[in-house]
Amino acid sequence: MTTTKAMVFHEIGGPEVLKFEDVELAPPGPGEVQIRHAAVGLNFLDVYYRTGAYKAPHLPFITGREAAGTVTAVGSAVTDFAIGDRVAYANSDGAYSAERNIDPSVLVKVPDEISLETAAAMMLKGMTAQYLLNQTFKVGPQTVLLFHAAAGGVGLIAGQWAKALGATVIGTAGSDEKVRLALQHGYDHVINYSTENFLEGVREITGGRGVDVVYDSIGRDTFPQSLDCLKPRGMFVAFGQSSGAIENFSLGMLAQRGSLFATRPSLFTYIATPPELRACANALFDVVRSNKVRININQTYPLREAGRAHTDLETRKTTGTTLLIP
Ligand SMILES: NC(=O)c1ccc[n+]([C@@H]2O[C@H](COP(=O)([O-])OP(=O)(O)OC[C@H]3O[C@@H](n4cnc5c(N)ncnc54)[C@H](OP(=O)(O)O)[C@@H]3O)[C@@H](O)[C@H]2O)c1
Repeated sequence: MTTTKAMVFHEIGGPEVLKFEDVELAPPGPGEVQIRHAAVGLNFLDVYYRTGAYKAPHLPFITGREAAGTVTAVGSAVTDFAIGDRVAYANSDGAYSAERNIDPSVLVKVPDEISLETAAAMMLKGMTAQYLLNQTFKVGPQTVLLFHAAAGGVGLIAGQWAKALGATVIGTAGSDEKVRLALQHGYDHVINYSTENFLEGVREITGGRGVDVVYDSIGRDTFPQSLDCLKPRGMFVAFGQSSGAIENFSLGMLAQRGSLFATRPSLFTYIATPPELRACANALFDVVRSNKVRININQTYPLREAGRAHTDLETRKTTGTTLLIP
């Protein structure tokens, strides 16, 4: 048994509950792999666990789902990975740590051309963009879509990817600086929804027709206006709740607005099996290697300052992706 460092919370609460502590690290079990993290990805999901919006499975808890690093030891029953492999993952709690043991079924090997930092920054957010645009709703050249929080981690990747698929891409962002950034990353139109009514903006841009699909990760603050942005039989994809959970949703709201569809998807059901994970990750690696999507690592913090990173994410100070370095 050795010790390593991790950000742990013993109770739910503000960013101050995150504590940088020594934690024990056992040798990997027969079916496990041990990794040393090069970088850890920051996600809104980590905030949901810390605040209790999503229930942590146990306390104390090490949050974080996304990281990349190097394999340092393998259990006796592991055949797919070897010491020295460069790996990344987006679906295993406990990423806010310097080293850890992990179930290899959640790992993918990182291609040589992609740095571990880029992998840590993009696995969760990039695979989310992948399934949202290619599976939840099949985006193509005919598609007109609205993507909220266009300058955020998922948003900057999704804008570039949707443009590569040929869509007309409308975004929203909370400041003029973010609007400019989104316009450089695939968005054809970006509405500053802090100063403008985004519903009116979408109606104007689409000549009153509405969009085919709305990707909404804001939740409470953009509901139900996001539904009103859709054309009849359009698709409402509610994939997050950065401003709080949607309340008072009823199926009748879909009927009143013209036979709408609605889904509340999660990446983790789209990458639940190793073949699904590999297909999703490979699509992401391809689009990044072809330079159709660039990954913007716009903030980097030491892992021990994850609390400060959470504050910046929650107060809308970040753009693009954010890394925590152990
Ligand atoms: N379901 C899934 O599979 C899945 C997977 C990954 C991420 N997500 C969701 O996708 C969203 C984006 O995740 P991310 O990690 O890339 O974060 P992010 O977009 O980089 O950050 C969240 C952004 O939301 C906007 N926002 C609007 N109202 C807000 C409020 N009251 N508080 C905080 N932010 C607010 C802010 O941008 P503006 O200032 O421009 O408004 C902020 O920068 C999150 O809701 C996350 O939960 C879902």
